[in-house]
Amino acid sequence: MIGGMDIGWKGQQIRVRDFGQGPPVVLVHGYPLDGAMWSGVARTLSQRFRVIKLDLPGHGENSSPAGGSIEDYADYVEAVLGSIEDRTGLAGFSMGGYAVLALMRRRPARVGALALVDSRAKADDDAGKAARNAAIAAVRSGGAAAIAEPMIEKLLAASSRQDPDLVARLKRIILRQKPETLESDLTAMRERPDSTDLLPTLGLPALIITGEADVITPPAEGRAMAEAIPQARFLEIPAAGHLTPMERPGPVAAALGDFFSSALA
Ligand code: MLT
Repeated sequence: MIGGMDIGWKGQQIRVRDFGQGPPVVLVHGYPLDGAMWSGVARTLSQRFRVIKLDLPGHGENSSPAGGSIEDYADYVEAVLGSIEDRTGLAGFSMGGYAVLALMRRRPARVGALALVDSRAKADDDAGKAARNAAIAAVRSGGAAAIAEPMIEKLLAASSRQDPDLVARLKRIILRQKPETLESDLTAMRERPDSTDLLPTLGLPALIITGEADVITPPAEGRAMAEAIPQARFLEIPAAGHLTPMERPGPVAAALGDFFSSALA
């Protein structure tokens, strides 16, 4: 049975999925998704770790309103970390990685190892900001359905798009996100600061993972982050696009598992 823990957040108690035994590992999801994007990876990791698979505010089963900034998402991850007693592994996928980097600026004592999965340190450029504004207009008029197909196209490698089960699972996750939550994500990503200067100051083991055919955060971005972080290693996942944890859960879970078990030992 899947267990849970309660997090105090802005006057509410939020139930967070918490299962498995071993050193704790917190998984932070991306846009336009929720914690379910980690399900396959989390199941494997839970054989040797305590896995905390959160939904950011407004997403999935987290009914608190989304705060509209990366700092607010980082606050939530910090609140989750505050409820864990041991040294913790922290993994952020894409937008989740942006939140994790914002949190790392605060030097959270409890984080013992960091994984950034299909993410990047750079802020949006002008074209990126314009694309966020166009997506905000689309979700305001058509909700999640308006961005689902173009996002699926960008999240998955061409070979993954041939897998009807994967596409259906992904579509279900996207379509259950509220328009106001998606707008919060898009605003948060558009306004996020550049974290490049933070990377050389990160004094903990780090693993950077990117799908070989990632068109949102291409492997060159991941490689650059790994070169800038003193104790980082870069891993490219073959036959995957941006959404490596859902496209290739086996190799991603194996890489995270080996990394966190040696880094948290
Ligand atoms: C994500 O996967 O979280 C987002 O697509 C990242 C982004 O758009 O910058």
